[in-house]
Amino acid sequence: MTDSVTITRPDDWHLHLRDGDALTTVVPHTAAQFGRAVIMPNLKPPITTVRQAQDYARRIRAARPEGSAFEPLMTLYLTDNLDPQEIRRAKDTHGSGGDGQVVAVKLYPAGATTNSAAGITDMHKTYKVLEVMQREGLLLLVHGEVTSPTIDLFDREAVFIDSQLIPLRRDFPELKIVLEHITTTQAAQYIRDAGPLMAATITAHHLLYNRNAIFAGGIRPHYYCLPVLKRETHRLALVQAATSDNPRFFLGTDSAPHPAHLKEHATGCAGCYTAFAALEMYAEVFDAANALDQLEAFASFNGADFYGLPRNQGGVTLRRESWLAPRSFAFGDAELTPLRAGETLAWKIQ
Ligand code: DOR
Ligand code: ZN
Repeated sequence: MTDSVTITRPDDWHLHLRDGDALTTVVPHTAAQFGRAVIMPNLKPPITTVRQAQDYARRIRAARPEGSAFEPLMTLYLTDNLDPQEIRRAKDTHGSGGDGQVVAVKLYPAGATTNSAAGITDMHKTYKVLEVMQREGLLLLVHGEVTSPTIDLFDREAVFIDSQLIPLRRDFPELKIVLEHITTTQAAQYIRDAGPLMAATITAHHLLYNRNAIFAGGIRPHYYCLPVLKRETHRLALVQAATSDNPRFFLGTDSAPHPAHLKEHATGCAGCYTAFAALEMYAEVFDAANALDQLEAFASFNGADFYGLPRNQGGVTLRRESWLAPRSFAFGDAELTPLRAGETLAWKIQ
């Protein structure tokens, strides 16, 4: 039995940090584990210009602990009328180091999830922007769920792939696309078949839990996220994908903090907070699958390679050691209940 694993410092390729006072809690958690993180732009109002993204990057940097070299990688929120000029400005930030590189654009179908009201109503409205992205080499990050109320919640990812993603892929064969936080057998299979310019991130919570977790002994809002947890066969397919040696699957926590009182609510918010122990949770999954030797590729290499960024220097060591997850963290004026609150974690970062 392996009791210790050392990997190159990993990156989180999908992260929500929010803004304001919340940053002082969540930025140090991520900065303690990861070298870089791709920061989601679904603030209120959303980040739609390079200037906003770089201002936000400065606020994130200011919340890092002393001496931290953590770097936020910024994204723009795609709307029906994003100015293609912003894509050229984003490209100009590449290699700039200091000021917040804008590496990707995030597509939310309007109404699909938290703060997605300004998202896309019709894929064709984005085509001018996507053409420039394809030319300039900016990545498209996709929340892959249809929003039609007539489509069952648990089918929304699979239907999105067939009805939206496959046509998009066909119309933009040279665009680098990441299907974010995949949750289904269909998504894992689609990525495997899709060729070198298509990748996917996988969260720790979708690897650890199936949908029973949301209803075990009563409704459990801290397990509610979007795309929602699926049945066990899908979880097993995700574990298989993450622990396979396919370089187009990589780590993206989708850690998404909300005030506890807004999750424990009649219409509770979607999002699981995992950043405080993300790597430990992934290690637990890889250990259970007897695949700790695949953790480094998934967490530290595949994402950087797909984004065309250098791999990190330095490393982190995880040891098999039981510890109790905190019950809550301060979160501005509110409290933040993490996933696994008060429960045992099996691995610990040194
Ligand atoms: O569960 C989620 N929470 N899924 C998303 O797509 C957004 C995120 C959030 O921002 O809270
Ligand atoms: Zn997300």
